Amino acid sequence: MQKIKKVLVTGASGQLGTTIKSMRHRVEGSLQFEFTDSDDLDITSLESVKEFFGQKGFDYCINCAAYTQVDKAEEDSETALKINEEGVKNLAQVCHQSNTILLHVSTDFVFDGRKNVPYLETDRANPVSVYGHSKFKGEQQIVRNMDRYFIIRTSWLYSAHGHNFFKSMLKYGKERKELSVVFDQVGTPTSAHDLVEVLIMMITNEVDNYGIYHYSNEGVASWYDFASAIFEINDIAVDLKPIRSKDYPLPAERPAYSVMDKHKIKKVLDLTIPHWRKSLVEVSQIFKKESK
Ligand SMILES: NC(=O)c1ccc[n+]([C@@H]2O[C@H](COP(=O)([O-])OP(=O)(O)OC[C@H]3O[C@@H](n4cnc5c(N)ncnc54)[C@H](OP(=O)(O)O)[C@@H]3O)[C@@H](O)[C@H]2O)c1
Repeated sequence: MQKIKKVLVTGASGQLGTTIKSMRHRVEGSLQFEFTDSDDLDITSLESVKEFFGQKGFDYCINCAAYTQVDKAEEDSETALKINEEGVKNLAQVCHQSNTILLHVSTDFVFDGRKNVPYLETDRANPVSVYGHSKFKGEQQIVRNMDRYFIIRTSWLYSAHGHNFFKSMLKYGKERKELSVVFDQVGTPTSAHDLVEVLIMMITNEVDNYGIYHYSNEGVASWYDFASAIFEINDIAVDLKPIRSKDYPLPAERPAYSVMDKHKIKKVLDLTIPHWRKSLVEVSQIFKKESK
């Protein structure tokens, strides 16, 4: 019989952490989760991280803790770096000392978006925002401080939980008759529910090809396409207008193209990834069920 694996989840009150919580029953008996939020475990304090790990013997740590406010980061780079670089360094060092495998979630925003074919794990990172820069610094700390890690870069994460574009569109769609969304930024929406399946598979399949992986749903969309599908699937009638990014200026620059190549993760997990539209239908159903 296989030993039950102990899995620590940091930053568990955010979108991804809440999604893991909602799906934990699927792996009862093989994984034992401990969920911590920023009050229980502040990853920016090395002492707290050391003390928390203590002798608990976690087999895995899934790091969902991050500074994710992309625009706010432009004027608060200190906090972004403290959490996304220093906090991640603390986790990497303590995981290494404790023989814990780290599953860390990173972002397509480490790229500059100047390519026009999907980004490979080996492509050069060149972030164009403070947030992207801080996440890349965090990745580098992991690579520098440990051997047994998975850095999983994902994009346009949404779910039935927390704050995300999908939920914002549902809200605006009910409040407004007309909405403008940018059509000149292209990437792939990713269901956090699908990402959690993949994180769980990495653990239960005992994958040991450590390193950097890209994971998103299949397909390509602009934010306009994504919004349009959200309204169509959820029967919301809104006059949706495509606009250029330059007509909707935000403090942080976003990569114009951030589609990721997923061959590596598909091979290692023997995975078939659902198209983003199929997953959007599923997430919409989960959201409806949970909102009742
Ligand atoms: N959302 C996206 O579109 C997207 C896209 C690509 C990649 N990602 C990555 O995916 C991961 C999960 O994102 P998410 O959408 O779940 O983000 P989220 O909803 O913003 O959750 C982040 C969590 O981190 C916690 N946190 C912040 N500082 C902390 C600290 N010092 N110690 C412990 N916890 C701390 C926050 O807690 P408090 O609220 O209490 O501060 C929050 O619960 C992140 O690494 C993000 O960079 C996200």
